[in-house]
Amino acid sequence: MKFTVQQGDITKQKKASFIIGVTEKGELTASGQKLDTSSQGYLKKLLKQGNMQGKVGQTLLLPLVPHTNCEHILLVGCGKSSSLTESDFRKVITSGIKTLLTTHAANAVCLLTEASVATHDSAWNVKQAVEICSEALYSFEEYKSAKTPATTLKEISFFVSDKKSLTAAEQALKLGIAIADGVRYTKNLANQPSNICNPSYIAEQAKKLAASYKNVTVKVLEESDMKKLGMGAFLSVTKGSAQDAKLVCLEYKGTTKKQAPIALVGKGITFDTGGISLKPAESMVGMKYDMCGAATVLGTLKSAADLKLPIHLVGILAVAENMPSGTASKPEDIVTSLSGQTIEILNTDAEGRLVLCDALTYAERYKPEVVIDIATLTGAVVIALGTHATGLMSNSDALAKDLLSAGIESHDRAWQLPIWDEYQEQLRSPFADMSNVGGKPAGTITAACFLSRFAKKFQWAHLDVAGTAAMMFGSDRYATGRPVPMLVQYLINRSKK
Ligand code: BES
Ligand code: MN
Ligand code: ZN
Repeated sequence: MKFTVQQGDITKQKKASFIIGVTEKGELTASGQKLDTSSQGYLKKLLKQGNMQGKVGQTLLLPLVPHTNCEHILLVGCGKSSSLTESDFRKVITSGIKTLLTTHAANAVCLLTEASVATHDSAWNVKQAVEICSEALYSFEEYKSAKTPATTLKEISFFVSDKKSLTAAEQALKLGIAIADGVRYTKNLANQPSNICNPSYIAEQAKKLAASYKNVTVKVLEESDMKKLGMGAFLSVTKGSAQDAKLVCLEYKGTTKKQAPIALVGKGITFDTGGISLKPAESMVGMKYDMCGAATVLGTLKSAADLKLPIHLVGILAVAENMPSGTASKPEDIVTSLSGQTIEILNTDAEGRLVLCDALTYAERYKPEVVIDIATLTGAVVIALGTHATGLMSNSDALAKDLLSAGIESHDRAWQLPIWDEYQEQLRSPFADMSNVGGKPAGTITAACFLSRFAKKFQWAHLDVAGTAAMMFGSDRYATGRPVPMLVQYLINRSKK
């Protein structure tokens, strides 16, 4: 899909399909009114007759409106007020695009970006609209015999009303496209089943990604390398699997300045059976998505490279499969992590923190300024926050603040949970330096407390995305591509500093 922005007199536009917002009071936006005028009041007349109530997301498709050369005018309800909330804006755009896809329209001019959305400016609307459209157009049909035919829609142009905001809108368009592409990359990788997307597959994808940018390099550590280094925690997770684990390290250098990097560390469990602490069958569905953290790191790096952000970024993917077998780790096994700290594995299903702790220690060698790990780490975060907010925990208030605001700005939000010392006590083991589980209470926090013991040398934040990276339950299962938008926004903000 080609996304563009435009400004000017839309009534002069040649053949196109226009998507216009209309409120419950029957009000049209400024350029919607212009179209009404050129249709000699046709739109207003229809609205007066009550053909459309303007409820959020409601649509009325009008082909070949008299006196205009519009192919279609699509009215989309914007609700009560002329100012939309972010989530209503999403509904409105999605519904507009999905309705237009049922026609043969080739060019859409979307006037919905003219609406006012919360406290945002039109540039924000454009950026967000690109991401929302890209989402509405997304499907993963690689394994379907009957594929949806390609859309006739080739271009969506977003309209901004005043000339002054055109430059900002064009910049926002670029950001939106890069973020949408990163999100799509992450979804495509995450949606692959684990019989295809195993650790070697992810390593190959990382190599492919690196090969397409001249300032991205990649290095893959094999199990033998990790053994030499002493990554006993990481290796304990892969012991039961027939697949070789990989530690994939990428580096993006968007600046020639010597700069301590930002490191993103992703949990990449290509399938999580739970291991010997086997999950019940119902809880295992969705566990192909246990590599979403790793997929997010790749998608974020892709966006950053597309945007040529002037930053130094490191991506570390801890990739393995968690399987039960005669060679698998067992409850009460004790392993030594790369940091030297010993861990008693009480539950082999708490595997994410075991691969991540060694990856965090490994990150030290890049002397990073900031390390952010992204992981589908705990079911408990889904209980605490549901599917709307990512769980955020950090040893740095400044970093937490930056991520929270990047989340608000990108509408890919997180919510902070405390990691007070008191919680650390739940990780006590009578035999090793710590246990890998902290019991039922505050499961998301104790998982983060575990990780914090391996993140003492840098500013660190942990994003528990078990509720947000993918919808795992029910018949509608899909990857969301979150938190790529939040992380890219964070990196954009950083690169301005
Ligand atoms: N991958 C799971 C977490 C998860 C659960 C992600 C549900 C998405 C949806 C993780 O490895 C896990 O199994 N965590 C355990 C930890 C427990 C054993 C301390 C959990 O949450 O039950
Ligand atoms: Mn698990
Ligand atoms: Zn897991």
